[in-house]
Amino acid sequence: MPKFKSGLSRRHLLASAVAVGAAGLVPGSPAAAPAMMTRPIPSSGERLPVIGMGTWVTFNVGDDMQLRARCVDVFRAFFQAGGGMIDSSPMYGSAEEVIGYCLKQLGANSPMFSATKVWTPLKWHGAKQIKASQELRGEDKFDLFQVHNLVNWEGHLDTLQAMKSEGRLRYVGITTSHGSRHEEMAKIMATQAIDFVQFTYNVEDRDPEARLLGLAADKGIAVIINRPFQRGSLLDRFQGKPLPPWAADIACTSWAQFSLKFIVSHPAVTCAIPATSRVDHMHENMNVGRGPLPDMKTRARMAAYVKDL
Ligand SMILES: NC(=O)c1ccc[n+]([C@@H]2O[C@H](COP(=O)([O-])OP(=O)(O)OC[C@H]3O[C@@H](n4cnc5c(N)ncnc54)[C@H](OP(=O)(O)O)[C@@H]3O)[C@@H](O)[C@H]2O)c1
Repeated sequence: MPKFKSGLSRRHLLASAVAVGAAGLVPGSPAAAPAMMTRPIPSSGERLPVIGMGTWVTFNVGDDMQLRARCVDVFRAFFQAGGGMIDSSPMYGSAEEVIGYCLKQLGANSPMFSATKVWTPLKWHGAKQIKASQELRGEDKFDLFQVHNLVNWEGHLDTLQAMKSEGRLRYVGITTSHGSRHEEMAKIMATQAIDFVQFTYNVEDRDPEARLLGLAADKGIAVIINRPFQRGSLLDRFQGKPLPPWAADIACTSWAQFSLKFIVSHPAVTCAIPATSRVDHMHENMNVGRGPLPDMKTRARMAAYVKDL
């Protein structure tokens, strides 16, 4: 496995992006599908599948056992397709508890990359929240804790960096969404030793291209893209509109795939985390990580095409 140092240059990241490997086959899969593409986390070199899973709303199903069973099916499909990162937050109602339930049902020695967040203005409460997340999900060691929406980021980064140095946590990150507080995020990225950032980026919301994505590449910070479908409204807008005929060249059969391909083909993006409550949608989304990705010229064509719809 190639190792990348913190402070990775944009040139190195581009080179590694070209090398994203669909190497090998998914063990035990009936059609021996090609494995999911992966990208390196710059601070460690560890590779992550380019499609992860969000859990806001879709996993906030409380005690409804039918909906919980549906979550288990979605989870299983995610793992079977070679999924990696599962993102959550104490802000997402019962989602963390339901993830814990799914893991138990699947008897998982799961290949999951566990990510959640701290979301409270109070530093002391953050420590309690971290403990609660661990208990709810039944995981004593998370891969990644992120400061949700930059709330009291100074206080929580302090706690999380201490956990990391004690070996109780592998990676530290910060998040925002809906295009908010990009300036502040950029300042934190420029001055703090963080492994991950998470923000919103998609074919219609391309603001991060101006600064955040380049800065992440220059500083060697992994990038998680949230709200890839703008909570579904992006796909609603495209509904009934034809895909361009050349979408077949990049193996897109749906607008969901078109949208995800645009995101994960940006060389600074590590993974996108679409949320779904449906197994068929999970398959559709995960297949994005198997086919060809658009090159720079095709990405420009994609953006121009949706602008004119
Ligand atoms: N500040 C933050 O840290 C922050 C903020 C926002 C979000 N997030 C994270 O990002 C994740 C993703 O964002 P999101 O949940 O807001 O929404 P999203 O992933 O942009 O969109 C989810 C919606 O897309 C639909 N969908 C998924 N796959 C589809 C497909 N193949 N075809 C058609 N429809 C499809 C889902 O409906 P179905 O259930 O019917 O598939 C759902 O309604 C969150 O779950 C959360 O983990 C983080």
